[in-house]
Amino acid sequence: ERIAVDGLHVLPGAIDVHVHFREPGMPQKEDWATGSAAAAVGGVTTVFDMPNTIPPTDSVENFQLKLGAAKSKSIVDFGLYGLLGEHNLGDLESLAAAGVIGYKLFLGNTTGDLPCPSDGAVLEGFEILAALGLRCSIHAENSPILFWRQNKLKAAGRDDVLAHLAARTDVVAVEALNRAATLADWTGARIHIVHESCARSLPFIRFWKERGVDMTVETLPQYLYLSAEMMLNPGGEVLRMNPPIREAAHQEPLWAALADGTIDMIATDHAPHAIEEKYGPRIWDLACGFPGVETSMALMLTAVADGRLSLERVATITSGAPARAFGLYGRKGVIRVGADADLAVVDLNRSATLSAAALHSRGKVSAYEGKEVKGVPVMTFVRGRMVAKDGEVVAEKGWGELVRPNMAPPAPRNLNTTMKEILEPGQRPWG
Ligand code: DOR
Ligand code: ZN
Ligand code: ZN
Repeated sequence: ERIAVDGLHVLPGAIDVHVHFREPGMPQKEDWATGSAAAAVGGVTTVFDMPNTIPPTDSVENFQLKLGAAKSKSIVDFGLYGLLGEHNLGDLESLAAAGVIGYKLFLGNTTGDLPCPSDGAVLEGFEILAALGLRCSIHAENSPILFWRQNKLKAAGRDDVLAHLAARTDVVAVEALNRAATLADWTGARIHIVHESCARSLPFIRFWKERGVDMTVETLPQYLYLSAEMMLNPGGEVLRMNPPIREAAHQEPLWAALADGTIDMIATDHAPHAIEEKYGPRIWDLACGFPGVETSMALMLTAVADGRLSLERVATITSGAPARAFGLYGRKGVIRVGADADLAVVDLNRSATLSAAALHSRGKVSAYEGKEVKGVPVMTFVRGRMVAKDGEVVAEKGWGELVRPNMAPPAPRNLNTTMKEILEPGQRPWG
């Protein structure tokens, strides 16, 4: 069959390395059918699902449970993260053998309330991951210190102090980022910083990359387009997420970092919740996050229309860079022609108005209600099969397959090298 694409552009299918499709355990929020439908319509051909489901993806048994659900329902290809927790360091190797795309480390409490591992446990976990070569995605922007204090203030009803504390969270972001990168530097583990929201972190990202830490970084459309100030508008509480959408002053530095390569890629932190969990009188009680996988491509194409990014850069940040970072490059992340092509065909001239009602996700909350976009995905192909056309799904459930990473372990590093640089000749760091 020949498909006319006159006047359209063909991009490599987007790879969203950060979604929460909620199955198993939270079907009221999302499942693999609704989540993958949203992805397909949005030009996303591969998603990586986070492990904070019920049960969490912390063992081979729980990995298999999620894999079964995803295989039977997903329309798009998928990678599944394993959890790096203090309780499951003994499961990291078997999770790799089972086929995880990488690991997720929560350095802050969030949906699912998984405990944060101690620094010592992270160190030991990173040593295991360095030998495996797999990348660890890290929620690094709010630390246990902050949550310990926030939880006490919440219990005491001190919303006034909580608001004050929220304004300090940019410094907490830097602390958690640098702690994670320090442990990666020490162990040689590959890391990925998820949902970078904070302009203050950018100089530190440059520092760690320059030092040679194998670190990649994602930001999200919501940190580029939305601001904390917007949360004061009626209904603005739906923007509550974690890490928080920050003041508008963060946006320009994040755009610049995305253009210059300090930030490597765009993901979405697609985090649907039931509608009643997103509205209420007290912001601290509301669920964190909102859907994003369906609208990300259109928002990035709008950045092309606005002259912020080149179309080539959009192809890199939505597809090439994630494929390289997670060992899929060649199979994914490039424009392939033929039976195994993952493609997003887009119309750069078509405008649309975003609205919650149109979302395929079960979490019908739109952070972008009424926003005009210019440039929309119009056809999506996964391994040569058309899965979505003009906003509707055209493939049956279960076409999606598990993707496994192909990552050679990094070259072993001499841990004494850095100490040698600062010691006098003849001095020894220990023993
Ligand atoms: O806003 C968020 N929602 N941040 C997270 O880190 C987790 C996510 C979720 O799973 O709901
Ligand atoms: Zn997170
Ligand atoms: Zn997330």
